Amino acid sequence: MQISPSVLNADLADLAAEVRRIEAAADWIHLDVMDNHFVPNLTFGLPVVASLLSQVSIPADCHLMIADPDRWAPGFAEAGAGSVTFHVEAARKPRMVAKDIRAAGARAGVALKPGTPISQIEALIPSVDMILVMTVEPGFGGQAFMAEMLPKVQQARRLADAADVDIWVQVDGGVDLESIERCAAAGADVFVAGSAVYRAEDPAVMVELLRAAAENGARP
Ligand code: DX5
Ligand code: ZN
Repeated sequence: MQISPSVLNADLADLAAEVRRIEAAADWIHLDVMDNHFVPNLTFGLPVVASLLSQVSIPADCHLMIADPDRWAPGFAEAGAGSVTFHVEAARKPRMVAKDIRAAGARAGVALKPGTPISQIEALIPSVDMILVMTVEPGFGGQAFMAEMLPKVQQARRLADAADVDIWVQVDGGVDLESIERCAAAGADVFVAGSAVYRAEDPAVMVELLRAAAENGARP
């Protein structure tokens, strides 16, 4: 059970300090890269990610909500991200994108928007290390969890389990103390939480509470 807080709703003017608040408690820092093209919002790109990585020690989980990941994704791995996730809807050659990310030294993740069926990534499975099932429409933090995505989380878990390699299943969007248990029960094992963590009085304590809730949900 891994927790990956998203800084989307943190103080972006003080990014390194915001990351340090959860660094000891969390497994990853989730960095939402948006290009105002694939999604209707704009955050930060490679220069900001690279600069941040030089100042913090927690591994980076980059979620690229951008057009043309074929061109841009490997650069995030080269900059030192531990995991780089691209959207299957945006990639021209998804298998090549995953291969290039791995060749640059990071884990490769593939993400699906809520409207994208799991069948879109079936053929990609041997090439990826993580499946990200979006539980909101990508673009903004603070949206309501889409419970209707839980069957897709189960489908992703089944695909992952059928593979010979260890593939993680990540959920992202509206994950809080209540929804995280259901996600864990459906088979997710990496949980992104933005507003739940950064709106909490003590973000590090919230990370531990989320982890405990996920472990609770995962129990048979
Ligand atoms: C949404 C982003 C998420 C977002 C999650 O497009 O991919 O990572 O920050 O925020 P919450 O947890 O507030 O839904
Ligand atoms: Zn995200």
